[in-house]
Amino acid sequence: MSDAETAQPEQHPSHRPIFSFSRRSGRLTEGQLNSWNTLGPKYLVDVERAELDFSVSPSFRVDPAELFGRDAPLIVEVGSGTGEAVVAAAAEHPEWNFLAVEVFVAGLARTLRRIEDAGLPNVRLVEANAVEVLEHMLPAGSIEELWIFFPDPWHKAKHTKRRLVREGFGAVAANALRPGGRMRLATDWEDYAFQMREVLDAAPEFTSEHPSEWAPRFDGRTLTVFERKAAKAGRRIHDLSYVTAE
Ligand SMILES: C[S@@+](CC[C@H](N)C(=O)[O-])C[C@H]1O[C@@H](n2cnc3c(N)ncnc32)[C@H](O)[C@@H]1O
Repeated sequence: MSDAETAQPEQHPSHRPIFSFSRRSGRLTEGQLNSWNTLGPKYLVDVERAELDFSVSPSFRVDPAELFGRDAPLIVEVGSGTGEAVVAAAAEHPEWNFLAVEVFVAGLARTLRRIEDAGLPNVRLVEANAVEVLEHMLPAGSIEELWIFFPDPWHKAKHTKRRLVREGFGAVAANALRPGGRMRLATDWEDYAFQMREVLDAAPEFTSEHPSEWAPRFDGRTLTVFERKAAKAGRRIHDLSYVTAE
C-alpha cells in the first residue's frame, strides 16, 4: 500500500476513523433548501458513496474535463465554507476550473446561490470528505493548485489529532497535484501554522517556496468575513506555499 492509501483517516482507538470536521446540523433554511434543490443538479458532483454520507467510494472517479465540459487548469479549494473565496476567484479567473470541497451543507447551499448569482460556468461543488476526494475521486496529477484557507483549527490539545494537515496529508495532496503543482494554505492559528510547516517540510513530495519563513499573503485570496474577523481579533494570518517536483 502507498502512503497515500494508508495516510487518512487515522483510526481512533475505538477503530472509528478520525475526521477533520464534525458534521454540523444538516438543517437548511427555506432559501437554502430551494438553492439545494434547484441548483444542486447543475453544480454538485453526484458522488458515489462508500459507507458514510460524506464519503467517496474508492472506485468513484471523475474526469475534470468532462465535469466542466472543457480542459483547463483545475483549482481545488478544500473546506470552502460559504464559498466567498472560491466564487471571487472563479469570477476573476474565467480561464480556470474551480472545484470546492465541503461537508457543511448550509455552506454549500450558500455557495450554490453565489455561483448562480454571479453566473459562473467554471465552478463545481462536491459534498464530501476532502481527503477521499483527493485520494479517490480526482485522477492523480489532475490539480494545478490546492487551496486550504482557514481549516478548522482544532486548537484544544486533545483535538489537534483531528487537524486536516497532519502527518500523511502531504502524500495524499501531492498525489492529486500535477508535477510542479502548488498547495497554498492560510491559517489564523499560529500553532497550526507551525504544524503545517513541520508536516509539509517533512513531506518528501513538497518543497517550500519560502523555506523557514511564511509566504506573503496570497493576493488571489479575497478578504473574507472569516479572515477579517480573525485579523480584528488580533490573530496574525500565516500563509504557506509549497510545490511538488516537476
Ligand atoms: C473554519 S471553516 C473555513 C471556511 C472557509 N475556508 C473560510 O475561510 O471562510 C473550515 C471549513 O472546512 C470544512 N472541512 C473541514 N474538514 C473538511 C474535510 N475533510 N473535507 C471537506 N471539508 C472540510 C468545514 O466543514 C468548514 O466549513
